[in-house]
Amino acid sequence: MTTVGLRQRPLPYGRRPPVTPVRASGGHARTGLVRAGACFENARLAERPGEPPPVALRSCVVQATRLDTARIRAARRVIDPVFLDTPLYRCEALEPDLGCTVSIKLETANPVRSFKGRGTEVVASLLADSGPRAAVCASAGNLGQALAWSGRGRGLDVTVVASRFATRAKLDRIRALGARLELVDGDHELARERAAAIARCDGIRLVEDSLDIETCEGAATIGLELVDSTPSFDTVLIALGGGALATGVGHAVKALAPEVEVICVQPLGAPALTLSWRQRRVVTTESTDTIADGVVGRYPIPAVLDDLLLVADDAVLVQEASIIAGMRMLLDHAGLVVEPSAALGVAAILEDRDRFAGRHVVTIVCGSNVDVDAYHRWVGAAAPHGS
Ligand SMILES: Cc1ncc(COP(=O)(O)O)c(C=O)c1O
Repeated sequence: MTTVGLRQRPLPYGRRPPVTPVRASGGHARTGLVRAGACFENARLAERPGEPPPVALRSCVVQATRLDTARIRAARRVIDPVFLDTPLYRCEALEPDLGCTVSIKLETANPVRSFKGRGTEVVASLLADSGPRAAVCASAGNLGQALAWSGRGRGLDVTVVASRFATRAKLDRIRALGARLELVDGDHELARERAAAIARCDGIRLVEDSLDIETCEGAATIGLELVDSTPSFDTVLIALGGGALATGVGHAVKALAPEVEVICVQPLGAPALTLSWRQRRVVTTESTDTIADGVVGRYPIPAVLDDLLLVADDAVLVQEASIIAGMRMLLDHAGLVVEPSAALGVAAILEDRDRFAGRHVVTIVCGSNVDVDAYHRWVGAAAPHGS
């Protein structure tokens, strides 16, 4: 495992969010984020003549992610409605085993069976309006499938680079949707290198998941839907890969409902971004070893880490056995076939029931693209939960 210093990349957009997260004492322990309104209330108090400014006001520091809440709202207008306003419901059948109130935000009932369509809709609509008519991305499978779908509807020429070890069902769908698929003889990081080389050589748009702000803005629309929901909830559990999902949802939640706890979840076998968050600098890993193929990055993106440091309250790592138990529970109690990355939230609760006891937890069920044989092996072999 190697570490490199945190490098600031130029921000794609210079604007600050209209609801600005602020740092203040008494704010969130880890991120220092508090509701901007709380700070303004202190400002009014500070106006009292003869009284010193409250401590909270004295330590106010404006902090901003690369995202902008108004742009996230605008993104909703270009995303095909088939990806929007997804079901959010309390799943009482999961609760006896998990020991807390559990709600599911279901991102699998759409044409590409993952949340990635939200981001690719934003990317593709911009490209169709003004950009080059061709784009390339690296993908573990879901982004590629989503970009293929969004590009097909807009007459874009899409190339996807993936590892030849990627989930077969995902690769088949990418081809079926009409994208050109190039396989590399290595992992996702090699696919990223190759996609960048193709973009340079062919002069086409490189869609870099989690770095390209549109991918985060698309994912962030899930956060808007969550904060608009009733009843409100205490915690949201978010699968962490490259970070578009967590930084997007995290931004929306911290901007609009800062009291909600944002917890990212990664497998122990692919921990790079979680370790980076904990050490506040980019940590890379030599390899990954997990069935959660949607979250297998090894080289975190510095700008994404910067955002994650502002919006995440915690980042936890879970074991493979818990991921499998989570998939099995979602099948048995929620009737949901999910891919391993989508079971990370349930896995996190399973590994720390005490932490979540008495809380209302939302878990984003973010993908359901599995190889059927592998899925049956996993859930068939899983020990019944609670044993
Ligand atoms: C099903 C699924 N869950 C989670 C993730 C992680 O999302 P992100 O890379 O935005 O962190 C991905 C990424 O492709 C995914 O496909």
